Amino acid sequence: MDTTVAPDHAAPGSGTGSATVPGGAAGTPAPFAEPSEQLIGTLPTDFLWGSATSAYQIEGAVAEDGRTDSVWDTFCRKPGAIDNGDVGDTACDHYHRMPADVALMREIGLDVYRFSLAWPRIQPGGRGPANDRGLDFYDRLVDELLGSGIEPWPTLFHWDLPQELEDAGGWPNRDTAYRFADYAELAYRRLGDRVTTWTTLNEPSVVTTHGYLSGVHAPGRTSLADAAAAAHHQLLGHGLAGARLRELAAQAGNPFQLAITLNLGPATPETDAPEDHEAVRRADGFNNRLYMDPLWHQRYPDDVVADLAAQGVRIPVLDGDLAVIGAPIDALGINFYFGMQLSGRAEDGSILDANGAPVSRHVLQGLPQTAMDWEIMPADFAKLLTRVGREYPGVPLYVTENGAAFADKPDENGFVHDVDRAAYIADHIAAVAVARQEGADLRGYFVWSMFDNFEWAYGYDKRFGIVRVDFDTLQRTPKHSAQWYAETIRRVRGH
Ligand code: FCB
Repeated sequence: MDTTVAPDHAAPGSGTGSATVPGGAAGTPAPFAEPSEQLIGTLPTDFLWGSATSAYQIEGAVAEDGRTDSVWDTFCRKPGAIDNGDVGDTACDHYHRMPADVALMREIGLDVYRFSLAWPRIQPGGRGPANDRGLDFYDRLVDELLGSGIEPWPTLFHWDLPQELEDAGGWPNRDTAYRFADYAELAYRRLGDRVTTWTTLNEPSVVTTHGYLSGVHAPGRTSLADAAAAAHHQLLGHGLAGARLRELAAQAGNPFQLAITLNLGPATPETDAPEDHEAVRRADGFNNRLYMDPLWHQRYPDDVVADLAAQGVRIPVLDGDLAVIGAPIDALGINFYFGMQLSGRAEDGSILDANGAPVSRHVLQGLPQTAMDWEIMPADFAKLLTRVGREYPGVPLYVTENGAAFADKPDENGFVHDVDRAAYIADHIAAVAVARQEGADLRGYFVWSMFDNFEWAYGYDKRFGIVRVDFDTLQRTPKHSAQWYAETIRRVRGH
């Protein structure tokens, strides 16, 4: 199956660093550049404003206080896997600078902070008892946030699988789902008295496609059968962990919201040709409906099952799995960066690739792009959110990640006047306001990211932060976009 269907994180080395301002000279102007401010003004005063990060991307301290390797530690050591040979060993050193980092969040005026818990810190090796020293860090973080008036939103898994579990088969191995539920229990037992929203997984489709199919992410495997099994076992892990947390919360009398975060990629056909519509159907199936349908309807989409079967692959579902996966959730997190226009033909006109699989080719629309070469398409985001609200109703929606990398140019004081990033964020928050007007139950927005950080296969070169991190001195400097975000939050809250 062609991996161009996966919207995030193209192979390393493909970025050119071209940054253009939405509405600027290059490409077609982004649709809502002008009215964004008015649209944002229609958001309710109790709309939740947040920022997001993940453990491996910011913490550093990879060998401290009992933490053991995750698949990302191992992957970073593989020659050529990461641009510039970067590694997450120090990252933003958040592990040692956490109180000052939370103080910056408070200055911006965040309601909520989305971060992830490092499984190999809490349960080294992925089995057995909790590592108290690892949990101590998250305990302090949760208290620091609450003491600053910021709600903690931990995600249990943001891609840093303990290496020992990968050695035992990783997500394609069904046992990993059971290990995940045990780990969730350890986290809950320490933090469950203060955490009121638990998110199980971040973007399982990226782990599926990039980790197990194209291999550009850890653990770097390249098998469609492994990818299909990884998708199913992540969802099963979500369901088992969710059930475990519900049980523990009922015993403790502590209600909480259960959430999962998906990256949903909208796709559009390049032309009206049937093969282009087919490419869109396959992409939507493999990236979006493969996750949404079992969560909402307790079944995998027939067409995706048939696409996989055509390549000799079966999703390893056992009796009862889909009921576990499809148990009700209380919130859906949606991550969005860009959508794709697809063609079902290769440049030479053929509809099958060298392996006999149908072609899905990403065709740029000539829109302005971020430094990731991702086209800026807030109107497609509004359509996507509206569609989720209509086709998968009944669960409050939160944009748990959205933001942009640009080639920042700090001045002599380290200040970055990133009007491009602020405009991107404004246009995408405006898209949220549009989708709300169309009926989608959107309740919050988290900018990706609070800090410049380790951007997976791209290393430190791609900067998504609203706060600049100088990776030589580790000094933090809020950018113009952080100031803009703080003002926007104040304005909406106070209207
Ligand atoms: C998302 C990831 C996040 C970050 C952004 C840019 O897919 O969840 O960790 O890398 O992309």
